[in-house]
Order: sequence, then structure tokens, then C-alpha cells
Amino acid sequence: PKPCEVTPAIIMKSYACQRRTPLKHHNSFLTEPLEILAENAEFSENEGRSLAFRRSAAVLKALPRAVRAMDELKDLPCLGEHSLRVIKEILEDGASSEVESTRQSEQFQAMKALTGVFGVGVRTADRWFREGLRSPLDLIHTGQKLNHAQQAGVQHYNDLNTPVTKKEATVISDIVERAVKAVLPGAIIILTGGFRRGKEVGHDVDFLITHPEEGAEERLMPKIVNWLDEQGLLLYQKTTRNSYLESKEGPARPPSNMDRFERCFSIFKLEQTKVNSDTQVEASSYNSSTTDRTEEYHSGSTWRAVRVDLVVSPYSQFAFATLGWTGSKLFERELRRWAGQEKGMSLSSHALYDSKQQRYLQANSEEEIFTHLGLEYIPPSERNA
Ligand code: CTP
Ligand code: MN
Ligand code: MN
Ligand code: MN
Repeated sequence: PKPCEVTPAIIMKSYACQRRTPLKHHNSFLTEPLEILAENAEFSENEGRSLAFRRSAAVLKALPRAVRAMDELKDLPCLGEHSLRVIKEILEDGASSEVESTRQSEQFQAMKALTGVFGVGVRTADRWFREGLRSPLDLIHTGQKLNHAQQAGVQHYNDLNTPVTKKEATVISDIVERAVKAVLPGAIIILTGGFRRGKEVGHDVDFLITHPEEGAEERLMPKIVNWLDEQGLLLYQKTTRNSYLESKEGPARPPSNMDRFERCFSIFKLEQTKVNSDTQVEASSYNSSTTDRTEEYHSGSTWRAVRVDLVVSPYSQFAFATLGWTGSKLFERELRRWAGQEKGMSLSSHALYDSKQQRYLQANSEEEIFTHLGLEYIPPSERNA
């Protein structure tokens, strides 16, 4: 190395919400293995352990270059003993034995397959695993009792485990826009979740809906759902009412960080037209419910199932809802942790409460929320922690 070549010191803040984390980074060879261990910890409901691995991975995602040696990590926050051990092994041997044996383990693979069914959480998957089940097919063969969501999850398993493309998200955006505008003119619809952060693919498409006239958004979801259903665009939907006003826990602290907006977890029936053996997506022809699938196939048209999340927020909470539904999940957790531990504030997707001043802080934009929190503004594309 040239004697005058100095590696500039990297200043790495310890909360992910204080840093810029781009989608594409230089350390996937380390972050993917660490996230396998995080996922495995989630499968055994060890949240603390999972969070430690996720935080380590997030620090590496924010680095401006690939890590080559352990001494480059000495001034970085959040890297625990266990994560460092894994990183060291990968740097020295090209792989971590713990990660590789986790990847290969029957339990990890079964939990991955079973939680990959829409409507199935870790608890249920773990119970099934202990009963000897390993895959979605086993659920059918053993005649497991499934709720409506899980039935749809099994039925559309392959489609729902096929990543949603940006192009498909755009087609779905057009459909949702048409539905919402038809039932509430003047409504505002934004794409949230991973696609707002610039992801090329996602496991679903997330939307947030509001109306500038406070109250106009009340009970909007059933109308949107009816419209979509009448067009034959829904394979499954579960709408939950807004329970924010009835909640007794205090607005900024709903249990388990779940928000209380009117929401709909759905599965869309997305038309696809095959053109020159290249699969193209298209807005639905609106007669799909009356069209026989064989006929669709022969006419070159078919469909696939796509997960879509719809959330309705009152205008006064829209900035908080936008911030809360843009993610990433770790970025959101870190924002709430920062608010609580560093600012004596309580942040949710509904509001920001300042415990010292004993009052709610209003905001009309995400920028204002970052300012209230004493944080530099981080745009959505840099929230990929
Ligand atoms: N979210 C939430 N409450 C839920 C589910 C999700 O507040 N019950 C928020 C998450 O915190 C996240 C955003 O909604 O900020 C999007 O969640 P999700 O769709 O699960 O993840 P994405 O980041 O969009 O990634 P993917 O591409 O896998 O969908
Ligand atoms: Mn870079
Ligand atoms: Mn999403
Ligand atoms: Mn979602």
C-alpha cells in the first residue's frame, strides 16, 4: 500500500434512524448471513437476539465500502461478540459454519416454508413443526384446520412467494387509484412500504389513503373493498376497523406497535397478458369473474395472486402514518427507540407525544417529524436499514 494512503475514519451513529442506509450496499456477503441468524432467532421467538443481529447487519449496510478486515470494524457501534465472530469467520473462511448449518437445518427450512404461508405466524408454524409438519403440502395432506387467511395462503402459495415487481406495483397502483377515486373523489393515495424506499421487488404492495377534509375518510375501506370486489379483483380480503379512538392504552403506545388504522389485508387477482412469450401485466379487464380460466389461457390472458395492504388514515395523522408505513421495519423500531430513550417522546404511526411538555406535537410532513425528534431528515430511499 502507498504510504500516504489514509483510510478516512467512518463516523457511524448508533441508531439506524441517524444514518443513511441505501438499498444497494457493499456488504451483502456479511449482512445476508447475519440476517439468516436474525430470522432463525425470530423462529424461536428470541427477539433480543434477532434484534442484535439485525442491528449489526444494518451497520454494515451503511458502510461506504466492503469490509475486508476485522480492524475496519473496531470503531463501529452495535457489533456484538456473536456478530463479530460470524463476520470474522466469513472474512477468513468465506462462510460461517453456524450460518450454513442453520440454513441447512430441518427446523429452519420448515419454519421458513410454513411461515411463508400467508396468515401463518411463528407460533402456529412452530406448533405444526413439533407435530411433524414440514411444508404447506403437509397441511393439506394431514387435513389441518386452517382459517380463511391460511386457506388463501395455501391456495396461492406459489404466487404469493413470487416477488412482486415494480411494474406489477404500478399496475396495482392504477387500480387502487381508480377504486379510491370512484368512492371518494379528492382522496390522496400514496405507495408506501418497500416500493417507496426504491425496492425493485417486494413481498406485497402497500398503500396509504387519506382525504384533506378530516372525517371524510371515515368508514372508507368497506367502500373501496366493495368496488374492487364488484370488479372481480379480490381473491381474499380482511378489513379491520379503525380502533384508535376506542383505544385505552394512550394513542402513541398501541400494544406491540400495531397501529389502529382502518386497514385491509388483501390478495388481488392481477391480470397478466402473455405477449411474445414475455409476461406483461395489465390492468384487469373487469370481467375476470365471468371469464373461464381456460378461455383466458387460450386468449393469451391469465392472472396471478398478489398481496396488497391498504391503510386509511385521517389527514391530521397522515405524516405519522406515512413515516410509519414506509419502513424498513428496523428503521421504524429505531425511530421509536430513539424517541423514547433519547428524547423522552413516544412515536407511533398516529402521533408523537412529548412526555416532558406533556403534549402531542403536530406535523404536516415527515420532515417536521424528524425535526421534532432532533434528527437529520432521512429520505425514504435511505431508510433501508
Ligand atoms: N407495518 C405496520 N404494521 C403492520 C405491518 C406492517 O406498521 N401490521 C409497517 C412496517 O413497519 C413497515 C411497512 O408497514 O414499515 C411495510 O411493511 P411490509 O410490507 O411488511 O414490508 P416492506 O418494507 O414493504 O417490505 P416487502 O417488500 O417485503 O413488503
Ligand atoms: Mn455506496
Ligand atoms: Mn411491503
Ligand atoms: Mn405490507
